[in-house]
Amino acid sequence: MKIDLPTEAATVELAQCLHERLPAEIAGWTVLLEGELGAGKSTFARALIRTMGHTGPVPSPTYTLVEPYTTPAGRVYHVDLYRIAAEEELRYLGWNELDDGLRLVEWPDRAPGLASQADVRIHLTYKGVGRAAELVGLSPRGRELLAGLRRAATSSEN
Ligand SMILES: Nc1ncnc2c1ncn2[C@@H]1O[C@H](COP(=O)(O)OP(=O)(O)O)[C@@H](O)[C@H]1O
Ligand SMILES: [Mg+2]
Repeated sequence: MKIDLPTEAATVELAQCLHERLPAEIAGWTVLLEGELGAGKSTFARALIRTMGHTGPVPSPTYTLVEPYTTPAGRVYHVDLYRIAAEEELRYLGWNELDDGLRLVEWPDRAPGLASQADVRIHLTYKGVGRAAELVGLSPRGRELLAGLRRAATSSEN
């Protein structure tokens, strides 16, 4: 599924739409955020975390690798794998203990094995002065979620 994101507000709206379609119990869901520097991965993650009711700052996890949040809508982990050198390092950041919340992962290509555990992949690219997103369902429930998103997008066009 491809979506144009002409402005930053459109990226924020996409994060809100995705959150609306996630179940109330988000523990164990994983969303991968791909795209080059500046493509809008952090913008998307920040918007989703704020949509969950977090009101404070959302610092970049570039150095800490994981930033945890407890929000009214549940736990969420903002993960940035830019600085990991090898997939095995996931263990040191405690990846397996992050299963009580939603995992939003920037630079997931650093750990290719994550794709088999993830639900949705969002690939962001530059398009003119804006961006575009390609969303792919990686799990049955992820595909179902995107089908719902597609139906909602189609009906709002009419
Ligand atoms: N859809 C969009 N259209 C135009 N600019 C955007 C869009 N989404 C994000 N931006 C801008 O791109 C810049 C980089 O975004 P960021 O989320 O930090 O990228 P990344 O985390 O992928 O490196 C920010 O200044 C942000 O305002
Ligand atoms: Mg970023």
